[in-house]
Amino acid sequence: MENQKDNIIHFKNISKVFPGVKALDNVSFSIEKGEVHALLGENGAGKSTLLNILHGVNSEYEGTVEIRGTAVSYKNANEAIKDGISKVHQEVSLIPELTVGQNITLGNEPRKGMFIDYKTLHKEANAILEKMNCNFKSEDLAGTLSTGEMQMIAIAKGLYHNAEVISFDEPSASLTNQEVSTLFSIITELKKNGITILYVSHRLDEVFEICDRATVLRDGKHIDTFKISDINREELIKKMVGRDVSAYAVRNKKLELTDKKVLEVENLSVNGVFEDISFHLKKGEILGFAGLVGAKRTDVVRTIFGVMRKSGGTIKINGHPVEINSPEHAVKMGLGLIPENRKTEGFIKYFDNANNVGLTKMEKFTQYGLLNHKKKTDNCNQYAEEINLRPKDSHYMTVNLSGGNQQKVVIAKWLSSDAEILILDEPTKGVDVGAKAEIYRVLEELLELGKSIIVVSSELPEVLGLSDRIIVMREGRKVKEYINENLTEEDILQYAMGVKQ
Ligand SMILES: Nc1ncnc2c1ncn2[C@@H]1O[C@H](COP(=O)(O)OP(=O)(O)OP(=O)(O)O)[C@@H](O)[C@H]1O
Ligand SMILES: [Mg+2]
Repeated sequence: MENQKDNIIHFKNISKVFPGVKALDNVSFSIEKGEVHALLGENGAGKSTLLNILHGVNSEYEGTVEIRGTAVSYKNANEAIKDGISKVHQEVSLIPELTVGQNITLGNEPRKGMFIDYKTLHKEANAILEKMNCNFKSEDLAGTLSTGEMQMIAIAKGLYHNAEVISFDEPSASLTNQEVSTLFSIITELKKNGITILYVSHRLDEVFEICDRATVLRDGKHIDTFKISDINREELIKKMVGRDVSAYAVRNKKLELTDKKVLEVENLSVNGVFEDISFHLKKGEILGFAGLVGAKRTDVVRTIFGVMRKSGGTIKINGHPVEINSPEHAVKMGLGLIPENRKTEGFIKYFDNANNVGLTKMEKFTQYGLLNHKKKTDNCNQYAEEINLRPKDSHYMTVNLSGGNQQKVVIAKWLSSDAEILILDEPTKGVDVGAKAEIYRVLEELLELGKSIIVVSSELPEVLGLSDRIIVMREGRKVKEYINENLTEEDILQYAMGVKQ
């Protein structure tokens, strides 16, 4: 029997239906006071939905949420915050024109009579920021801060309202390594102060590092709740996916490479951003770009793709010099870029999956001026199957999919395109372990079809597991090129961090 007294949150028979999907199916479990509790599961398992229910973002559902032993029904997120239940979600919504302090105290500002007491406001906000070791002030404008700093404001806001519970939905996905370690020390500190943490992440290393217990959801159902110290990586993945998968990036086989260079980049520069980048890509090869966040790898591939304008250097495709002025032009030249920022650059909000996956191929599906809907739908279904899209419905609106499944749609769009050279920027960020393995497999199939691939990734096991060759970048420069044989993470890190020049 559970000891009611130690549980701060109790989910009782929670169900939630969206049109066509049962996002949560009779979920029951408890969160102990003061623990760091991971919420795990594949893309679309129901993690964000459950948090939205807890925080009053979703107020229509079946079942009961009990906090401190009493049933609650928050009508919106503010009601929850005032009751000590705070959230730090991936898309932190701050008002950029207001100061940090105003954002922290918003709706509950200290007052002197009728007026906001700014002196007290900044004093109280600065006291919290100092405790968190933040290097910005309550008086700063929120709009000038980085993603990591904005998350700190969201945490500070919770503390201002005496949070007892703070939940994090994939907080590390867009943070630098430095920001992640700051976040972890803050979480440890919050825990010391008796605050309960709910933590959603697809990075299992993080879960093993900071979480006490975990709950796994699969297809909206509660699978298990257990202590992290009682489980290993393989068992955990099996609970999440329901079968054995390799969590590691591996190449089943590498192709015999010829000397045919499909892409040659010489002395590519963008003033003030990166300098003198030279490399080539061979047909049938995976070339990895490693480096820390901020190494400007994304800017390099965006420049090749015509999103940013180069200030110097040359680009050749199949031996011919080209001037690529726009992404449309890049696509015509046989390039495809799966951008890092897939939420804003990757798909069209008003399109369903079939239309989004078919975006680069609409001409192919059109005959005598008529769009062949069946071809378009079949194309989507084929890839939906390969990468395990959920729901596997070509007419589902992409915008209503879970975060990770939206990413899969954007990936499917480029995988199904006619691009000869595919550039993938952080291809598995926010994608669950099962789908990761499936994406790796699709990449290998593409190589066999004669395509060539560039992978930019901050996950070293991924770069090491996939690439034939690896280029390491640091602060806008290429610092090392390796043939990927018997390389270790340390080899790459030494150059990425500037220990070796
Ligand atoms: N507003 C919505 N309208 C329709 N369906 C939705 C909506 N929000 C979520 N869903 C569906 O509910 C299911 C659960 O989604 P949820 O966002 O909770 O998953 P998740 O576990 O957070 O996944 P991820 O790891 O990809 O973020 C998915 O199948 C999703 O498509
Ligand atoms: Mg989610």
